[in-house]
Amino acid sequence: MKIRAAVLERFGAPLEVQELDLAEPKAGEVLVRLVACGVCHTDLYTASGADPSGYAPAVLGHEGAGVVERVGEGVTSVAEGDHVVTLFSPQCRECVHCLSTRTNLCLAIREQQGQGRLPDGTTRLSRDGEPIRHFMGTSTFAEYAVMPEIALANVNKDAPLDRACLFACGLSTGLGAAIKTAAVEAGSTCVVFGAGMVGLGAVAGCRLQGAERIVCVDLSEERLELAKGQGATETMVGGPDTVERVLELTGGFGADYTFEATGNVAVMRQAVESARMGWGLCTVAGVAGKGETLDIVPRFLITGRRVAGSSFGGLKGRDEVPQLVDRWLAGEIDVEPFVSHTLTLDEVNRGFELMEAQDGIRSVIRFD
Ligand SMILES: NC(=O)c1ccc[n+]([C@@H]2O[C@H](COP(=O)([O-])OP(=O)(O)OC[C@H]3O[C@@H](n4cnc5c(N)ncnc54)[C@H](O)[C@@H]3O)[C@@H](O)[C@H]2O)c1
Ligand SMILES: [Zn+2]
Ligand SMILES: [Zn+2]
Repeated sequence: MKIRAAVLERFGAPLEVQELDLAEPKAGEVLVRLVACGVCHTDLYTASGADPSGYAPAVLGHEGAGVVERVGEGVTSVAEGDHVVTLFSPQCRECVHCLSTRTNLCLAIREQQGQGRLPDGTTRLSRDGEPIRHFMGTSTFAEYAVMPEIALANVNKDAPLDRACLFACGLSTGLGAAIKTAAVEAGSTCVVFGAGMVGLGAVAGCRLQGAERIVCVDLSEERLELAKGQGATETMVGGPDTVERVLELTGGFGADYTFEATGNVAVMRQAVESARMGWGLCTVAGVAGKGETLDIVPRFLITGRRVAGSSFGGLKGRDEVPQLVDRWLAGEIDVEPFVSHTLTLDEVNRGFELMEAQDGIRSVIRFD
């Protein structure tokens, strides 16, 4: 079939919306009609050429939600008409990681996905017979996508898809960091560094876990206001003295849980040092620049702090994203303030501009 999609032709150049060919889903694959897709930093990171593992031409986009149009042979977990959230972090339910409760990093299709191909090593996207590569196993800056069944979360049909798409990446990442990776205990004190989509999700996650104090740190007063709306009990403008100020707020000890959602390695260090002696857990969700390293004075670890990384909030996507969507529908999570702009596919580059200008939290592309 012919579809319209935003293609990364050259790094550093705007995406080009054009007509492509999309082949039928093969065994274990699903054709999804996209309804909405958020514009996330990872798309821009790849489009800019900063991502060393990036490739072109490819169709970007990974924060998608849509409706199942057709399924390939052997697909059982979704059927035509189901509403789905796309998962750049799939869940095969069979590999050694999926069978463990200790990680969500499914091994089933990692290699092919990283190279922009579907699990059988080929692409469904092409242009005049030339293969065009997929991106993060999703390629959702497009009217339709063919994706592996294991990369789709089947969600409640009551969920508006132009909001549900946020659960495909940023929001789930933040929520999961608090609920799953850190498993924040009720009554605890949390500090969240960064009040973008991920940090605000972490604030909401800490609240859902029953945290007593949630301190949010960001450079933007406007974003700190949003953090209050998600449950932050205190806010702080970040700076070189953030650690000292967190210690002052916590009787000299630091927080039970800290979360880093900025991607800045200096802030990661602050997050480690703001965690409490004895049992403080620092969860790092931010993605640092190529080659950057995180400095930790070992004394902070010896004296009982722990550091955990969190990819997609540690969530097993097919099982747990539908549960988060249900909690949103039950009124436990307020998604509305996160969507600041609604765009058409043709305006996808405007989505990048808005993101670079920090204008709003998320721009969402609608395909209808
Ligand atoms: N682990 C994952 O699976 C995953 C998924 C999605 C995004 N991410 C990463 O998470 C990070 C956050 O993503 P986002 O979409 O929320 O980004 P964002 O840019 O919207 O938010 C980052 C926030 O950090 C704030 N900030 C910058 N410097 C600061 C400082 N010194 N002190 C305090 N706050 C500071 C900014 O003001 C901004 O509000 C990025 O690095 C992104 O790549 C990780
Ligand atoms: Zn993302
Ligand atoms: Zn797996």
